[in-house]
Amino acid sequence: MPRKFFVGGNFKMNGTVKSIQEIIENLNKAKLDPNTEVVIAPPALYLLTSLAAANPNIQVAAQNAYTKSSGAYTGEISPAQLVDAGIPWVILGHSERRTLFGDTDEIVADKTKAALDAGLSVILCIGETLDEREAGITVKVCERQLDAVRTKVTDWSKIVIAYEPVWAIGTGKVATCEQAQEVHKDIRAWVANNVNGETAENIRIIYGGSVNAGNCKQSAAQIDVDGFLVGGASLKPEFVDIVNATA
Ligand code: PGA
Repeated sequence: MPRKFFVGGNFKMNGTVKSIQEIIENLNKAKLDPNTEVVIAPPALYLLTSLAAANPNIQVAAQNAYTKSSGAYTGEISPAQLVDAGIPWVILGHSERRTLFGDTDEIVADKTKAALDAGLSVILCIGETLDEREAGITVKVCERQLDAVRTKVTDWSKIVIAYEPVWAIGTGKVATCEQAQEVHKDIRAWVANNVNGETAENIRIIYGGSVNAGNCKQSAAQIDVDGFLVGGASLKPEFVDIVNATA
C-alpha cells in the first residue's frame, strides 16, 4: 500500500480565537486533496474549538503532552486528557521544545511512549542544528534521537517521523530537495535496520523547515518525502497549496 501523503500545520504559539477560526473556515471551504492526510496543531487553548470547527477530513494535534496521565503537574496536559477530549495526534520532540524547554532525547522518548500507550498518534520531530550539519553528523544526530525512542517503543505504526533541520525552521532557508531526500532515505534505512522492514516501508517521513507553496512540489516529488510539517505557512492561505502538493 502506498504511503498516504501527510501534511501537518504547526501553528506554534500563534493565533487568536478569531484568526484560528478564520484559518479553519478557509480550510473547510478549500478543495483539499482527499489523498492527503491533514492535521492542524493549534495552541492547546484552542484545541477543542478547532476540533469542533474543522471538517472531519481535517484532524487536530496538540503541540506537546506530558509523560504522566494525571496529577500535580501544573501547566501540563496529559495524553489521557487529549484522548478524553477527542484529540487524536500530538507533536513531540519539536526542536523548539528541545532547545527552549529542555526536552532531552530521553524525555521525548518517554513522552512518545506515554502518548502511544494512551492511544495517540505521534508526529515525532528530529533534526540537526547548523553546527551539526557542518560537522557532518546530521545522520548521527537523527539516529541518536531515534535510538532514544527505540529503547522505549517497539510499535512504530502510529508514528510519523518529521525530519526538521533546525537551521531551516523559520529561517526561510529550506533544505534542498536532494538534502531532504538524502536524510529521509537514511532515516528509512534506520527504521528498516532497527524496527523492521515492513515498518520502514509504511512509515511516513515528512519534511519540515520553511516549507511554502513555492518549494513544496519539488520536495514532495522525492521518493522518501511523504509530506510536510509546516510552521509559518500553515497560518496562511498557501497552506492549501502545500496540502495539495501532490494533487
Ligand atoms: P517553519 O516551521 O515552516 O515556520 O519553518 C516548521 C516547524 O517548526 O515545524
